[in-house]
Amino acid sequence: MKVRIYKDAEQAGKAAATLIGAQLIRKPDSVLGLATGSSPIPIYDELIRMYREGAISFAQATSFNLDEYVGIAEDHPCSYHYFMQEKLFEYVDMRPDAIHVPDGNAENPQAFAAAYDWAIERAGGIDLQVLGIGRNGHIGFNEPGDHFIRGCHVVDLTESTITANQRFFENRDQVPRQAMSLGIEAILKAKTVVLIATGKDKAQAVRDAIHGEITPQVQASILQGHPDVYWMLDEAAASLL
Ligand code: F6R
Repeated sequence: MKVRIYKDAEQAGKAAATLIGAQLIRKPDSVLGLATGSSPIPIYDELIRMYREGAISFAQATSFNLDEYVGIAEDHPCSYHYFMQEKLFEYVDMRPDAIHVPDGNAENPQAFAAAYDWAIERAGGIDLQVLGIGRNGHIGFNEPGDHFIRGCHVVDLTESTITANQRFFENRDQVPRQAMSLGIEAILKAKTVVLIATGKDKAQAVRDAIHGEITPQVQASILQGHPDVYWMLDEAAASLL
């Protein structure tokens, strides 16, 4: 695994965006796996800047987001559909029909999840997967547990994730209790993984994932078995390495 340490979140984000930009230049029709949350925001800011400068284009790219809450509408300001529009898609030349975000309100979630995995396979798999990491070591919403879940699935969010994500909502009661998340298989099959982690409260999860045992209690630890992972860290997130 390649561990890169930057002064702050902005520098880590810029460097991660450069990796994604290079991917798009090398392969304009790349399949990108995208994440939401605070960590990738500096990445998306920099990608928008690179696009405006004419350095990169998303016109031939396809994207699949990692996850979406269950039980809030797509146009809810805290939904991940909304987040992606607001933080990236509105400002770049992605074709709307090339954008995929799980449907947290699917009538038949199991059928939707299977179709989502299949759509990724049909697109040729993910070329580059962007990940954040939860304070509890989750990737996507693959929460700590006694096993790794292969496919896309509906998950009960843990108390620690509900607490962590409360900051995006008016109060704790409004945080959805479930999400639909890509499983570990599609993430592990991505050709390249770019994980961004910033801030002191990620330091323990980063340490456990990189140096700890490979265990479903720390879902990100499975990335030790992936041949091309970049850990893009700021000094605070790297402070326990
Ligand atoms: C988001 C996702 C989550 C987040 C993680 C960190 O799509 O899959 O795994 O990456 O919870 O969130 P932030 O960056 O907000 O600390």
